[in-house]
Amino acid sequence: MLTRIYICVAGMVLGLAAVLLVTSTATDAPDRDGVASVAHRAGAYRAPENTLAAVDAARAVGIDWLENDVQRTKDGTLVVIHDKSLARTTDVEKKIPHGAPWNVADFTWAEISTLDAGSWKGRQWAGEKIPTLQQYMRRVDSNDQRLVLEIKWPELYPRLTEDTLNELDRLGWLKGDRVTDRLIVQAFDTGTLKTVRARAPEVRTALLSRDPVAKDLPRYAEVADQIHMKYLKVTPEYFKAVHALKGPHGRRLKVFLWTVDDPRRAVEFARWGADGFISNRPDLLQKALAEAGYTADVKD
Ligand code: G3P
Ligand code: CA
Repeated sequence: MLTRIYICVAGMVLGLAAVLLVTSTATDAPDRDGVASVAHRAGAYRAPENTLAAVDAARAVGIDWLENDVQRTKDGTLVVIHDKSLARTTDVEKKIPHGAPWNVADFTWAEISTLDAGSWKGRQWAGEKIPTLQQYMRRVDSNDQRLVLEIKWPELYPRLTEDTLNELDRLGWLKGDRVTDRLIVQAFDTGTLKTVRARAPEVRTALLSRDPVAKDLPRYAEVADQIHMKYLKVTPEYFKAVHALKGPHGRRLKVFLWTVDDPRRAVEFARWGADGFISNRPDLLQKALAEAGYTADVKD
């Protein structure tokens, strides 16, 4: 009799342990396909930001997804650079001393193409250039990478969104797997995303934001497939609110956080529900996320 009781109690303990194990695995394991690690400005830590050297450096450490910033020269060439001014990331002050404040919009492509966009980062990058969008897209393509393209300062450049989409179209980026799997266009305002959707409804879009306010989400979900949120104020509840909605392509709304450079925080945010990160250290994040069981491939 006593033996039967022992067996029965042992069975219950084992059963409880099994339940706890399953519950804990379900809590720790990814509940979705993967988490993307996107190289901010193509990898601002390893190489001069937004250059072709940075694109290649990201690829060399196994990063598929890049993020960039698109502006336009005085004579209409689309270029990849973050700041309004050329001063921080080029030698423009030395080459064109009387051009203050050296805004991208005030110089021709002939002038901008002479600038050194690498030396500020280190002598090994001397001679690196600001790329045109065409040069940049061709490198992303030949490297078999993917891009989160930011329409930068649209308020400064009339029709920058339309020009960018026309260029992407001309370069073959609005069709096939390039548009379905390898391109996301992001901006800080819903108006720009509406323009994207009117010109090219097939393109996936992301709204950049600094304030995780759940009540705004239904309005954002009309124009954005993803929310790209500054990481500082997010909560687990915010991820749930985002994931309850669908974007304009009928897929679950996603959240990428920026700019997350600490791998441990990235894993914590992934457990809360982050679908991706825009990071200056994407390789470190990708490794930590892989060790925590997340693949790098974000699916729907
Ligand atoms: O992609 C997020 C991030 O790029 C937005 O900030 O200033 O680096 O363009 P910023
Ligand atoms: Ca950006």
